[in-house]
Amino acid sequence: MGTLSTAFLVVALVFAVDQLRRKRERSARLPPGPPGVPLFGNTFQVAPVHPWKQFYELSKQYGPVMRLQLGGQTTIILSSYEAAQGILTAHAADTASRPRQYVASDLASGGMRLLFIPHGPRWRLMRRALHSGVSIRAAESYAPMQEAESAILLHDILTAPTPERYDAGTAIRRFTTSIVTTAAYARRSATGQEENVQRLYECMATIARLGRPGSNIVQYVSWFEYLPGWLAPWRAEAEDAHKKELGLFKAMFQRARAEEGPMCFARELAEKQEEMELNDSEASYLVGSLFGAGSDTTAGSFLSLIQLLIANPEVQRLAQAEIDAVTGGDRLPLVSDIPRMPYVRGCVKEVLRIRPVTSGGSPHLATADIAYGDYIIPAGSVVQGNHWAINRDLDKFSDPEEFRPDRWDAKEPMEEGIGSFGYGRRVCPGQHVAVRTLFIATARLLFGFDLKLAKDESGNDIPIDPNAYSNGFNSVPLPFPAAFIPRDADRATVIKAEYGRAISEVSKYGIL
Ligand SMILES: *[C@@H]1O[C@H](CO)[C@@H](O)[C@H](O)[C@H]1NC(C)=O
Repeated sequence: MGTLSTAFLVVALVFAVDQLRRKRERSARLPPGPPGVPLFGNTFQVAPVHPWKQFYELSKQYGPVMRLQLGGQTTIILSSYEAAQGILTAHAADTASRPRQYVASDLASGGMRLLFIPHGPRWRLMRRALHSGVSIRAAESYAPMQEAESAILLHDILTAPTPERYDAGTAIRRFTTSIVTTAAYARRSATGQEENVQRLYECMATIARLGRPGSNIVQYVSWFEYLPGWLAPWRAEAEDAHKKELGLFKAMFQRARAEEGPMCFARELAEKQEEMELNDSEASYLVGSLFGAGSDTTAGSFLSLIQLLIANPEVQRLAQAEIDAVTGGDRLPLVSDIPRMPYVRGCVKEVLRIRPVTSGGSPHLATADIAYGDYIIPAGSVVQGNHWAINRDLDKFSDPEEFRPDRWDAKEPMEEGIGSFGYGRRVCPGQHVAVRTLFIATARLLFGFDLKLAKDESGNDIPIDPNAYSNGFNSVPLPFPAAFIPRDADRATVIKAEYGRAISEVSKYGIL
């Protein structure tokens, strides 16, 4: 053997040994996690219901940066505020992407649903285009409409056939839906039963079902993507869902574009569609996605808040004292009262903390190795902030299970410090609209009503199960009755008068 080839061999050997050492070192520095079984890892250990609660318990043992092996996928679950900031915010550029969602994104959304789009030029473009619909400035412009819709909600509750035993879910969903569709299309939902509203809800349910982790084997075995159609019936189902949804979104977008009338996100987007290089399908999806992102989520938070207020009557009294001091008791609270009502604002922040709708967080994809403390999070890992756990972080929140609106700094803006909208580049763009909708609904509900447990026919309390929540990517309270007791006749009169004004305010909008 010549000296040259010997030298080459030695270099190659040294290189190989070094690679092996690095690999071993890297795996030694992986975050800890519960032991799994060969091949499948922890896949079959994940609780089928509300896994975020299980992950929270596990984090007490394995720490705030915990590794799960889900099939071939390394998944890092973050359970403290510091870890979420230190990884998803500090390494925002390297965690801005999403894991591939072949069925829910590629097939069922035609790759156009912003929530699922991987980081890149398309995502950046659509996110920028969305800004004009949901920025703080846009959110502030929605105040008159939010005030009108909340007056209508109060009236719906006041005139309920049995206010001492009333499931307000339908009225509340109409309220949040109407705010979103008015912002999107300048068209409202008057009954919650309109055909287009029903269709929107159907599309949303389909996507939630197709996107749920574990709903389809192809999420774990990617070569299933290449099966012929007769072996992969889910492909036709997902493509059909996309066709239906695109048809609905496009029809509503094109109708808004063709109409004159109050400004809305669809018309604003249509004006700069060409300049932004968005085709009709993309623009339609962008506007349509406001519905899935903002209607049921906001309704769910408000329903959670009602449960928590019932469980904490002293919080109701303190909030009502603040509301009465500001309004004098003879006018409804306004969105512009936000700075004067830190305690009510704290109620909103506190429900988002203790009952985060996206309870388990949403998955980010690490696109580079990330060093955090002694750990390495390898590129290709899924990184997920477990909101349920982060919001119970003892370093940040003492007695985390207690509902305490006064734990929030009264001088901070309402959006500040709420982790439930996500972290880094994927933070929820609709948060400014959402917190304002929640504020006005909360201030006004407590202006007019005392909230109590509902009574059954024999006069016994109907308890509320705090664990009765739906089990999806978004987790919201299952239907429950409550008692809505008008505080006094004067306040009821204010509500009735405001209802009349509200109906004339919203008459400038069409029906969806
Ligand atoms: C619009 O753009 C998307 C890519 O974001 C593409 O998949 C779709 O085919 C385009 N639609 C039309 C009608 O050109």
